[in-house]
Amino acid sequence: MQRGQFNSKAGFIMAAAGAAVGLGNVWGFPTQVASNGGGAFVLVYLLLAFCLAYPALMAELIIGRSARANAVTALPMLTDKPQLKVGGRIVGIAGLVTVAVILSFYAIIAGWLIAFAIAPVTQFLGFNEAEKWLTTFSLSRNVAFTFFFMVLTIIIISQGISNGIERWSKRMMPALIVILIALIAYMLTLPNALVGLEHYLKPDFSQIFNSQLIISAMGQAFFSLSLGVGCMLIYGSYLSSDENIVKAGAWVTLLDVGLAFIAGLLIIPSMYIASHFGVEIFDAEGALLSSDTLIFQILPALFEQMGSAGPIVALLFFLLMSLAALTSSISLLEVPVAYVVEAHDKKRHITSWVIGGLITLLSLIIVFNFDWLFGLVIAITTKYSQPLLGLFFCVYAGWVWQRNNALQEIKKGFEDAENSFFWKIWPWYVKFVCPLFIIIMFIHAL
Ligand code: PFF
Repeated sequence: MQRGQFNSKAGFIMAAAGAAVGLGNVWGFPTQVASNGGGAFVLVYLLLAFCLAYPALMAELIIGRSARANAVTALPMLTDKPQLKVGGRIVGIAGLVTVAVILSFYAIIAGWLIAFAIAPVTQFLGFNEAEKWLTTFSLSRNVAFTFFFMVLTIIIISQGISNGIERWSKRMMPALIVILIALIAYMLTLPNALVGLEHYLKPDFSQIFNSQLIISAMGQAFFSLSLGVGCMLIYGSYLSSDENIVKAGAWVTLLDVGLAFIAGLLIIPSMYIASHFGVEIFDAEGALLSSDTLIFQILPALFEQMGSAGPIVALLFFLLMSLAALTSSISLLEVPVAYVVEAHDKKRHITSWVIGGLITLLSLIIVFNFDWLFGLVIAITTKYSQPLLGLFFCVYAGWVWQRNNALQEIKKGFEDAENSFFWKIWPWYVKFVCPLFIIIMFIHAL
């Protein structure tokens, strides 16, 4: 069977940046900044993203393009040793399970965002009951919108690589960037925005070696770059051999980190604007409120204070969030779908609906057991599973795979790779620095 491929380098970059840029950027990052002392977190995050996450991202992309297969098939191909082959399969399968669980909670949050994006429209039309339902936490709303979001995700994935993922990413990513910049331009004209900007940009250096902050920043970087679950590996496997993979990966990292940073320019000042309008933004201990309170209470309260501009800003804001979620959710669903299609020789269309349906069921289980299950699955997958699996991907790239094979793969679209700065650094990084750093962080966290 002919394998799908992205049509162009720009298509790959949009798709992979779309996979990377998601709730982790527009929600997770600003929220973490708010709860981890502002600028100090930004600084540590930037450092970790480029020094730790980028090399790990490259490991996945290069393995993927070399194997031209999903992670479960690709990792065993890196070695002749039977035990290591089995180990590779286990890592790949653990990635599949992790990705399915991530998508199941991701779809719930994305559902809320879509509901909040529709709410200003119903308000404008005078459907007040509908607006109330859309913006109030309830079982019926959560079920309906989780379902709706999953159907959107499944439809795109069922259309394939270039016709589905690439085509839709090329539409949604530019729209996302335009909305983000327009919102920032508007928000920064409002009172108190500059105070927020200062909190965001001025690092409190005493916080920089705070181990909790470093652990949060590492988890955030792994989540944001979609590492450890075979997502970037499968996207790499759809990249043409003519392209310079080192550059393509650098673009994806830059876009991901850049957009997280820019999202912070929107969210943190918005909080301080809200505070100017009388909205409470600090908790009892004086720390900035964050996570869902920030997105679903503080910001809507702010939009309500903005008069006639409010509903438009609210619509754009939640549309932005929903777009970011969708370009990532498709990459999450692609991982198990690609595996079943390739390894079990199934048709993409039907596989997308079956796997997507199963993950929707998982989402519904979480929705019905929200109080104890929601936070738990997020913590297990993003704090532990992703960095741990990321560690194994680095070990396979750095220790199991022959160094020369990696080089030959990189050289395909980058003849002079051998003499490049990248090749001088990267093999050491994936072999020693990344695994060691992840292990130290783990020991610390436990
Ligand atoms: N990187 C996405 C975000 O920042 O929201 C989340 C994600 C997508 C994680 C795909 C893992 C993944 F495989």
